[in-house]
Amino acid sequence: VSFRIVVNDTSRDAMLNLLALKNVFVKQLPNMPRAYVSRLVFDRKHESLALMKSGATPVGSGSAAAGGETVMGGCCYRPFKEQKFAEVAFLAISQTEQVRGYGTRLMAQVKERAKRCGLTHLLTCADNNAVAYFKKQGFSKKITLPFELWQGRIKDYEGVLLMECKLHPQVDYLN
Ligand code: ACO
Repeated sequence: VSFRIVVNDTSRDAMLNLLALKNVFVKQLPNMPRAYVSRLVFDRKHESLALMKSGATPVGSGSAAAGGETVMGGCCYRPFKEQKFAEVAFLAISQTEQVRGYGTRLMAQVKERAKRCGLTHLLTCADNNAVAYFKKQGFSKKITLPFELWQGRIKDYEGVLLMECKLHPQVDYLN
């Protein structure tokens, strides 16, 4: 497997990878309106980290993408550079690949990427059934980022818990 940062630069590869990732999100996050998922995944203020697998994969285990690879999952987030945080909008691993450690590796990649971009916090609105996963990734419901920095920027809604993960510049999240 490999991890790839994908942004909507209108290239064919990026479009195919984002389309595949959108399909994984739509399948794994059935409560999210399809149009809303599409809008954010293709939005140019967002970027995504995709989990890619090469070679043939069984039907239903992912979403075909560019270059004969399959998108097995990923994370779509929006960096707020000035406020030094990113909002994790969607995160999912294909059904057949869950609970194999990919979700943990994916989050480590997101943290390292955010840290290298100079960000200090990740925020997310965690689905109730994903709260345990986020806690294991170092997220907490205690929000230390000053309210005025995220107020109006985070889409909080019912059935979710706002959670935060503080990033440390001296930590290598990939080791
Ligand atoms: N509830 C409780 N614990 C969980 C859950 C869960 N839903 N999912 C994973 N875990 C635990 C695992 O058991 C594991 O624990 P361990 O370290 O003690 O063994 C740990 O979290 C990490 O597991 P991974 O194998 O690294 O995680 P996985 O590859 O399964 O990915 C993910 C986790 C992304 C939540 C995946 O299960 C998934 O896609 N679920 C459906 C979509 C979803 O709920 N996404 C998050 C919605 S919130 C949002 O998008 C902002």
